[in-house]
Amino acid sequence: MGLKKSAFMHSKDQLPYLGIGLGLRREIASETLRSDKIDWLEIVPENYMRIGGHARRRLAKARAKHTIVTHGVNLSIGCADPLDQNYLDDLKALLDYIDAPWFSDHLCFTSFESDYMHELLPLPLTEQAALHVADRAKRVQEFCNRPFLLENISYYMDVPGSEMQEASFFARVVERADCGILLDVNNVYVNSINLNFDPYVYLAALPLERVVQIHVAGHSHTDTHLIDTHGAPIIEPVFELLQHVLERCDAKAVMLERDQNFPDFVEIENELDIIRKMVESTYSCKTARNICDSTIVNDLVAPL
Ligand SMILES: [Fe+2]
Repeated sequence: MGLKKSAFMHSKDQLPYLGIGLGLRREIASETLRSDKIDWLEIVPENYMRIGGHARRRLAKARAKHTIVTHGVNLSIGCADPLDQNYLDDLKALLDYIDAPWFSDHLCFTSFESDYMHELLPLPLTEQAALHVADRAKRVQEFCNRPFLLENISYYMDVPGSEMQEASFFARVVERADCGILLDVNNVYVNSINLNFDPYVYLAALPLERVVQIHVAGHSHTDTHLIDTHGAPIIEPVFELLQHVLERCDAKAVMLERDQNFPDFVEIENELDIIRKMVESTYSCKTARNICDSTIVNDLVAPL
Protein backbone atom coordinates (compact mmCIF):
# COMPACT_ATOMS: atom_id res chain seq x y z
CA MET A 1 0.00 0.00 0.00
CA GLY A 2 1.39 3.43 -0.97
CA LEU A 3 1.93 6.34 1.41
CA LYS A 4 -1.12 8.55 2.02
CA LYS A 5 -1.03 11.72 -0.09
CA SER A 6 -0.93 15.01 1.79
CA ALA A 7 -3.64 17.66 1.33
CA PHE A 8 -1.24 19.74 -0.77
CA MET A 9 -0.38 16.83 -3.06
CA HIS A 10 -4.10 16.18 -3.54
CA SER A 11 -4.65 19.82 -4.45
CA LYS A 12 -1.66 19.74 -6.84
CA ASP A 13 -3.42 16.93 -8.72
CA GLN A 14 -6.38 19.27 -9.30
CA LEU A 15 -4.31 22.22 -10.57
CA PRO A 16 -4.50 23.08 -14.26
CA TYR A 17 -1.46 22.63 -16.50
CA LEU A 18 -0.66 26.19 -17.56
CA GLY A 19 2.25 25.66 -19.97
CA ILE A 20 4.88 28.31 -20.75
CA GLY A 21 4.62 31.76 -19.19
CA LEU A 22 6.29 35.13 -18.85
CA GLY A 23 6.35 37.77 -16.12
CA LEU A 24 4.09 40.73 -16.94
CA ARG A 25 6.46 43.71 -16.88
CA ARG A 26 5.45 47.29 -17.65
CA GLU A 27 8.32 47.80 -20.15
CA ILE A 28 7.23 44.91 -22.39
CA ALA A 29 3.54 44.72 -21.48
CA SER A 30 2.09 45.57 -24.89
CA GLU A 31 4.27 43.03 -26.75
CA THR A 32 3.56 40.47 -24.02
CA LEU A 33 -0.19 40.90 -24.34
CA ARG A 34 -0.02 40.74 -28.17
CA SER A 35 2.22 37.65 -28.33
CA ASP A 36 0.83 34.22 -29.19
CA LYS A 37 3.88 32.49 -27.65
CA ILE A 38 2.73 32.92 -24.05
CA ASP A 39 0.23 30.65 -22.28
CA TRP A 40 -0.02 32.39 -18.90
CA LEU A 41 1.37 35.32 -16.91
CA GLU A 42 2.95 35.95 -13.54
CA ILE A 43 2.63 39.31 -11.77
CA VAL A 44 4.31 40.89 -8.78
CA PRO A 45 1.24 41.41 -6.56
CA GLU A 46 2.67 44.45 -4.76
CA ASN A 47 2.48 46.33 -8.09
CA TYR A 48 -1.28 45.76 -8.30
CA MET A 49 -2.61 45.71 -4.73
CA ARG A 50 -4.85 48.72 -3.90
CA ILE A 51 -3.74 50.40 -7.12
CA GLY A 52 -5.89 51.85 -9.90
CA GLY A 53 -4.94 53.71 -13.06
CA HIS A 54 -2.65 52.25 -15.70
CA ALA A 55 -1.57 49.27 -13.61
CA ARG A 56 -5.10 48.14 -12.93
CA ARG A 57 -6.10 48.61 -16.59
CA ARG A 58 -3.09 46.54 -17.67
CA LEU A 59 -4.14 43.84 -15.22
CA ALA A 60 -7.72 43.85 -16.49
CA LYS A 61 -6.45 43.35 -20.07
CA ALA A 62 -4.09 40.58 -19.00
CA ARG A 63 -6.80 38.85 -17.01
CA ALA A 64 -9.14 38.84 -20.00
CA LYS A 65 -6.55 36.92 -22.04
CA HIS A 66 -4.54 34.74 -19.65
CA THR A 67 -4.50 32.80 -16.42
CA ILE A 68 -2.43 34.82 -13.94
CA VAL A 69 -0.54 33.80 -10.80
CA THR A 70 1.23 36.09 -8.33
CA HIS A 71 4.85 36.01 -7.19
CA GLY A 72 5.25 38.28 -4.18
CA VAL A 73 8.29 40.05 -2.75
CA ASN A 74 6.99 41.52 0.51
CA LEU A 75 5.38 38.70 2.44
CA SER A 76 8.61 38.34 4.46
CA ILE A 77 7.77 34.78 5.40
CA GLY A 78 10.93 34.32 7.47
CA CYS A 79 10.71 37.58 9.42
CA ALA A 80 10.29 37.51 13.21
CA ASP A 81 7.50 40.15 13.21
CA PRO A 82 3.87 38.94 13.15
CA LEU A 83 2.42 38.33 9.67
CA ASP A 84 1.04 41.58 8.22
CA GLN A 85 -2.73 41.02 8.12
CA ASN A 86 -3.35 44.14 6.00
CA TYR A 87 -0.92 42.82 3.40
CA LEU A 88 -2.61 39.41 3.47
CA ASP A 89 -6.08 40.97 3.07
CA ASP A 90 -4.90 42.92 0.01
CA LEU A 91 -3.15 39.88 -1.44
CA LYS A 92 -6.22 37.69 -0.98
CA ALA A 93 -8.45 40.30 -2.66
CA LEU A 94 -6.09 40.39 -5.65
CA LEU A 95 -5.86 36.58 -5.86
CA ASP A 96 -9.66 36.39 -5.85
CA TYR A 97 -9.92 39.11 -8.52
CA ILE A 98 -7.57 37.31 -10.93
CA ASP A 99 -8.84 33.89 -9.81
CA ALA A 100 -5.26 32.67 -9.38
CA PRO A 101 -4.90 28.87 -9.23
CA TRP A 102 -1.87 29.31 -6.90
CA PHE A 103 0.46 32.01 -5.58
CA SER A 104 4.05 32.22 -4.44
CA ASP A 105 6.68 34.20 -2.56
CA HIS A 106 10.34 33.74 -1.63
CA LEU A 107 12.01 31.64 1.08
CA CYS A 108 13.62 34.65 2.74
CA PHE A 109 12.90 37.71 4.87
CA THR A 110 12.51 41.22 3.52
CA SER A 111 11.60 43.24 6.60
CA PHE A 112 12.69 43.75 10.19
CA GLU A 113 10.52 45.47 12.80
CA SER A 114 8.21 46.69 10.01
CA ASP A 115 11.03 48.31 7.97
CA TYR A 116 11.11 46.91 4.43
CA MET A 117 14.60 46.47 3.02
CA HIS A 118 13.68 45.83 -0.63
CA GLU A 119 16.05 42.85 -0.70
CA LEU A 120 15.39 39.12 -0.54
CA LEU A 121 17.58 38.21 2.44
CA PRO A 122 18.61 34.62 3.26
CA LEU A 123 17.56 32.94 6.48
CA PRO A 124 19.74 31.09 8.99
CA LEU A 125 19.37 27.44 8.00
CA THR A 126 18.32 26.15 11.41
CA GLU A 127 15.58 23.86 12.69
CA GLN A 128 14.08 26.77 14.64
CA ALA A 129 13.87 28.95 11.51
CA ALA A 130 12.41 26.07 9.46
CA LEU A 131 9.62 25.54 12.00
CA HIS A 132 8.93 29.28 12.18
CA VAL A 133 8.68 29.64 8.38
CA ALA A 134 6.65 26.45 7.99
CA ASP A 135 4.07 27.57 10.55
CA ARG A 136 3.67 30.94 8.80
CA ALA A 137 3.53 29.37 5.32
CA LYS A 138 0.77 27.06 6.50
CA ARG A 139 -1.24 29.98 7.85
CA VAL A 140 -0.74 32.04 4.67
CA GLN A 141 -1.82 29.11 2.50
CA GLU A 142 -4.94 28.54 4.60
CA PHE A 143 -5.86 32.22 4.67
CA CYS A 144 -5.48 32.69 0.90
CA ASN A 145 -7.37 29.46 0.30
CA ARG A 146 -5.26 28.14 -2.58
CA PRO A 147 -1.90 26.34 -2.97
CA PHE A 148 1.10 28.40 -1.83
CA LEU A 149 4.60 27.93 -3.26
CA LEU A 150 7.93 29.02 -1.83
CA GLU A 151 10.84 29.84 -4.13
CA ASN A 152 14.56 29.25 -3.51
CA ILE A 153 16.35 32.62 -3.67
CA SER A 154 19.81 33.51 -4.94
CA TYR A 155 22.15 34.80 -2.22
CA TYR A 156 25.81 35.54 -1.95
CA MET A 157 27.12 34.38 1.42
CA ASP A 158 26.53 31.49 3.80
CA VAL A 159 24.45 32.67 6.73
CA PRO A 160 26.32 32.37 10.07
CA GLY A 161 24.80 29.93 12.55
CA SER A 162 23.35 27.63 9.89
CA GLU A 163 22.97 23.99 10.92
CA MET A 164 22.01 22.35 7.64
CA GLN A 165 22.33 22.60 3.87
CA GLU A 166 19.90 24.88 2.05
CA ALA A 167 18.17 22.00 0.24
CA SER A 168 17.48 20.19 3.56
CA PHE A 169 16.13 23.42 5.01
CA PHE A 170 13.89 24.02 1.97
CA ALA A 171 12.61 20.41 2.11
CA ARG A 172 11.96 20.67 5.86
CA VAL A 173 9.92 23.88 5.41
CA VAL A 174 7.70 22.75 2.53
CA GLU A 175 7.03 19.29 3.98
CA ARG A 176 6.19 20.65 7.44
CA ALA A 177 3.99 23.44 5.95
CA ASP A 178 2.54 21.03 3.39
CA CYS A 179 2.97 23.64 0.66
CA GLY A 180 4.56 23.66 -2.77
CA ILE A 181 7.82 24.60 -4.45
CA LEU A 182 8.52 27.22 -7.06
CA LEU A 183 11.92 25.96 -8.22
CA ASP A 184 14.18 28.59 -9.78
CA VAL A 185 16.80 26.61 -11.71
CA ASN A 186 18.86 29.72 -12.45
CA ASN A 187 19.06 30.47 -8.71
CA VAL A 188 20.23 26.89 -8.07
CA TYR A 189 22.95 27.35 -10.70
CA VAL A 190 24.05 30.83 -9.52
CA ASN A 191 24.24 29.70 -5.87
CA SER A 192 26.10 26.50 -6.82
CA ILE A 193 28.88 28.57 -8.43
CA ASN A 194 28.99 31.35 -5.83
CA LEU A 195 28.72 29.05 -2.80
CA ASN A 196 30.54 26.10 -4.33
CA PHE A 197 28.14 23.14 -4.24
CA ASP A 198 26.92 20.56 -6.75
CA PRO A 199 23.52 21.69 -8.11
CA TYR A 200 22.52 18.10 -8.91
CA VAL A 201 23.15 17.02 -5.29
CA TYR A 202 21.04 20.00 -4.20
CA LEU A 203 18.17 18.91 -6.46
CA ALA A 204 18.39 15.31 -5.25
CA ALA A 205 17.72 16.52 -1.69
CA LEU A 206 14.47 18.31 -2.61
CA PRO A 207 10.99 16.77 -2.64
CA LEU A 208 10.61 17.49 -6.37
CA GLU A 209 7.09 16.06 -6.37
CA ARG A 210 6.08 19.36 -4.70
CA VAL A 211 7.28 21.49 -7.62
CA VAL A 212 4.32 23.27 -9.20
CA GLN A 213 6.12 26.06 -11.04
CA ILE A 214 9.63 26.50 -12.46
CA HIS A 215 11.52 29.75 -13.11
CA VAL A 216 14.28 29.95 -15.66
CA ALA A 217 16.35 33.08 -16.32
CA GLY A 218 19.70 34.53 -17.29
CA HIS A 219 22.32 36.07 -15.00
CA SER A 220 25.39 38.33 -15.16
CA HIS A 221 29.04 37.97 -14.14
CA THR A 222 31.34 40.06 -11.99
CA ASP A 223 35.03 39.14 -11.48
CA THR A 224 34.13 37.04 -8.46
CA HIS A 225 30.42 36.22 -8.56
CA LEU A 226 27.42 35.41 -10.73
CA ILE A 227 24.60 37.87 -10.14
CA ASP A 228 20.96 36.87 -10.58
CA THR A 229 19.90 39.83 -12.73
CA HIS A 230 17.19 38.35 -14.98
CA GLY A 231 18.80 40.60 -17.58
CA ALA A 232 20.62 38.24 -19.96
CA PRO A 233 19.93 35.16 -22.10
CA ILE A 234 19.70 31.76 -20.39
CA ILE A 235 22.98 29.84 -20.53
CA GLU A 236 23.41 26.17 -21.46
CA PRO A 237 24.16 24.78 -17.94
CA VAL A 238 20.88 26.32 -16.74
CA PHE A 239 18.98 24.67 -19.62
CA GLU A 240 20.65 21.38 -18.60
CA LEU A 241 19.39 21.83 -15.03
CA LEU A 242 15.92 22.62 -16.38
CA GLN A 243 15.98 19.41 -18.44
CA HIS A 244 17.09 17.42 -15.39
CA VAL A 245 14.26 18.84 -13.28
CA LEU A 246 11.59 18.37 -15.98
CA GLU A 247 12.48 14.70 -16.15
CA ARG A 248 11.93 14.35 -12.39
CA CYS A 249 8.81 16.36 -11.61
CA ASP A 250 5.39 17.14 -12.96
CA ALA A 251 5.49 20.93 -12.95
CA LYS A 252 2.28 22.67 -13.94
CA ALA A 253 4.00 25.73 -15.39
CA VAL A 254 7.42 26.93 -16.55
CA MET A 255 8.25 30.61 -16.77
CA LEU A 256 10.95 32.82 -18.27
CA GLU A 257 11.96 35.66 -15.94
CA ARG A 258 13.22 38.73 -17.79
CA ASP A 259 13.19 41.89 -15.68
CA GLN A 260 15.76 44.27 -17.17
CA ASN A 261 18.05 44.91 -20.13
CA PHE A 262 15.12 43.99 -22.37
CA PRO A 263 16.12 42.79 -25.85
CA ASP A 264 13.98 42.90 -28.97
CA PHE A 265 10.81 41.01 -28.01
CA VAL A 266 11.47 38.40 -30.70
CA GLU A 267 14.52 37.25 -28.68
CA ILE A 268 12.27 36.68 -25.67
CA GLU A 269 9.85 34.74 -27.88
CA ASN A 270 12.75 32.63 -29.18
CA GLU A 271 13.73 31.69 -25.63
CA LEU A 272 10.10 30.85 -24.89
CA ASP A 273 10.08 28.58 -27.96
CA ILE A 274 13.20 26.75 -26.75
CA ILE A 275 11.66 26.25 -23.29
CA ARG A 276 8.39 25.06 -24.86
CA LYS A 277 10.19 22.47 -27.00
CA MET A 278 12.07 21.14 -23.97
CA VAL A 279 8.94 20.92 -21.84
CA GLU A 280 6.73 19.39 -24.51
CA SER A 281 9.28 16.80 -25.65
CA THR A 282 10.10 15.79 -22.05
CA TYR A 283 6.45 15.56 -21.02
CA SER A 284 5.39 13.64 -24.14
CA CYS A 285 8.24 11.15 -23.51
CA LYS A 286 7.06 10.77 -19.89
CA THR A 287 3.45 10.26 -21.01
CA ALA A 288 4.54 7.62 -23.54
CA ARG A 289 6.61 5.91 -20.83
CA ASN A 290 3.65 5.96 -18.39
CA ILE A 291 1.30 4.46 -21.01
CA CYS A 292 3.93 1.83 -21.76
CA ASP A 293 4.41 1.07 -18.02
CA SER A 294 0.65 0.81 -17.39
CA THR A 295 0.29 -1.52 -20.42
CA ILE A 296 3.01 -3.74 -18.97
CA VAL A 297 1.29 -3.73 -15.54
CA ASN A 298 -2.08 -4.51 -17.13
CA ASP A 299 -0.49 -7.35 -19.13
CA LEU A 300 1.03 -8.70 -15.94
CA VAL A 301 -2.27 -8.68 -14.03
CA ALA A 302 -4.50 -9.74 -16.97
CA PRO A 303 -6.14 -13.10 -16.36
CA LEU A 304 -4.74 -15.89 -18.47
FE1 LIG B 1 12.76 33.27 -9.73
